[in-house]
Amino acid sequence: MSDSSEFRFLKACRGEPVDKTPVWFMRQAGRYMKVYRDLKEKHTFLEMCKAPELACEVTMQPLEVLDVDAAIIFADILLPLEPMGTGLEFSAGDGPVIPRPVKDKKAVEQLLPVNAEKQLGFVGDAIRLVRKEIDGKIPLVGFAGAPFTLSSYMIEGGKSRDFTTTKLMMYEATDVWNLLMEKVCVMLVDYLKMQVNAGAQALQIFDSWVGCLSPHDYKKYIMPHLKGVFNELKGLGVPVINFSTGTSTMLDTVQQAGGDVLSFDWRIEIDEARKILGADQPVQGNLDPVTLFAPLPVIKERVHDILRRAGPTGHIFNLGHGILQHTPVDHVKAVAEMVHEFKYE
Ligand code: CP3
Repeated sequence: MSDSSEFRFLKACRGEPVDKTPVWFMRQAGRYMKVYRDLKEKHTFLEMCKAPELACEVTMQPLEVLDVDAAIIFADILLPLEPMGTGLEFSAGDGPVIPRPVKDKKAVEQLLPVNAEKQLGFVGDAIRLVRKEIDGKIPLVGFAGAPFTLSSYMIEGGKSRDFTTTKLMMYEATDVWNLLMEKVCVMLVDYLKMQVNAGAQALQIFDSWVGCLSPHDYKKYIMPHLKGVFNELKGLGVPVINFSTGTSTMLDTVQQAGGDVLSFDWRIEIDEARKILGADQPVQGNLDPVTLFAPLPVIKERVHDILRRAGPTGHIFNLGHGILQHTPVDHVKAVAEMVHEFKYE
């Protein structure tokens, strides 16, 4: 496509009419695909992220099979933690491990400033390779973790159930928390600008775990920082998607933080969400990833229900969270087809 603003994904991000509802899947590259598992026999996950040719190859893998309207660059929200100085490891089975977690004022003060172009330049290089490879067929999404979700990994040292240490830093050492937020936000803005300069045509901010907070705490400890990030990204000329899960009871608050598109999970129906957000708020979502394991007729009923509730404009079909490991590839493929074939009444 010569004029990239004509992509149906980008039109839907702007709330403009589209010929078909665009669809893509969070985590559309990864372990549910055999081609990915085969490549992972030879390389570790971090090796694949850091070698632009491999990251490009993995980004392209789902596009061979799925008729999706966007690609997402193969990387991870935790990659910036290495240059910030906490270390980063992926252990088989346990998920991400941060060897030097940031638990106190001294540790926050010692976090290093990041030069994204120099230290995370492999992500930019992968973006440039994918843009060449994809040849104007669909747009490429860049991404980063949101300040809360990223900091929770830095503080807890890995995944967490209750986020106790993170919340206690907010409550007991608010100045330390704010300093951490400032450092993370400066890094995020630099990193995301680098991705747009390299060729990312949209950005998604992953706030996967922010739903563990009360609306009060979101407003007090997150909102000012997150707003700052969205403000800094305005004027880059690309739409920014504000993704979160577990936030259906505070979507109005999440909306206030910013973002051109709001992406939320299956715990609220899209028409109900739109009553809160306003009819013209572009939205993304919100199939439960577990539904992809169900028999095809069950999936179809749910996909059609979501499409009917969302209506034909300002909706990007996606999951409410990433594709799970053992998801049948043919079901993912079928959902993309169902979305494109759907006729609105
Ligand atoms: O969507 C895509 O296809 C692009 C790639 C992508 C990955 N991670 C690749 C990945 C994206 C967008 C992410 C984002 C990410 N990473 C998030 C936010 C989205 C979400 O799911 O909530 C989070 C919280 C992370 C941190 C992280 N990285 C986790 C929790 C894990 C999984 C640990 C596990 O063992 O399940 C990772 C590893 C990871 N990131 C994998 C992939 C394909 C699996 C690595 C492997 O092959 O073993």
